[in-house]
Amino acid sequence: MSGVHIIEHPLVLHKLGILRDKRTGTKEFRELVHELSILLGYEATRDLALADTTVETPLGTANCKTLEGKKLGVIPILRAGLGMVDGITSLLPAAKVGHIGLYRDPETLTPVDYYSKLPADVSERDIIIVDPMLATGGSAIAAVNVCKREGCKHIKLCNIIAAPEGIKAVREAHPDVDIYVACIDERLNEHGYIVPGLGDAGDRLFGTK
Ligand code: PRP
Ligand code: URA
Repeated sequence: MSGVHIIEHPLVLHKLGILRDKRTGTKEFRELVHELSILLGYEATRDLALADTTVETPLGTANCKTLEGKKLGVIPILRAGLGMVDGITSLLPAAKVGHIGLYRDPETLTPVDYYSKLPADVSERDIIIVDPMLATGGSAIAAVNVCKREGCKHIKLCNIIAAPEGIKAVREAHPDVDIYVACIDERLNEHGYIVPGLGDAGDRLFGTK
């Protein structure tokens, strides 16, 4: 059963507080996005299939588990999603990485599609789409649409902060997509920014403002 998973781990909540702080600079912001991605990725991979195996230790035979070896794909929504890729791929080193380029039109808040490059065998892979912010949900819905158009059947979404409006929109458009998020904030403001949020994730990550 798919749904919304709020990751309220103490380490996540501690790091999220520092990430939100307007005094946190680019270097630390980037490090925190990386660390939070590992913690969220840990939860988003909780249901990976395992197979039984045995291992010879120096003292005997241990009954162990091994990942069944499902093919995985990590897809950041450019730009800010890039900050989450290394964290997730440190957990899943064999995952292939695709990129989807979208930006929000500042007037209409609708996503504008400018780039897409996915692994050739993306339809055979379980996909984790990453983006720190889920605001109106327009970008996430568009990214899931791209993946589904390419034949992907198992898609998860990993965000750091979401607005209730974005969660609702994604759930309505794609009820089969599980969402993993550290916090659902109060609301969107009139410019489509999450309140209290953390500001513009791309600008804070790349130091562009
Ligand atoms: C931000 C963010 C999401 C999107 C969320 O990207 O990283 O992709 O906004 O908003 P939505 O849920 O209302 O679609 P932005 O469009 O600012 O582009 P950038 O990452 O290139 O700065
Ligand atoms: N994108 C961001 O980077 N921040 C928001 O609050 C909303 C969209």
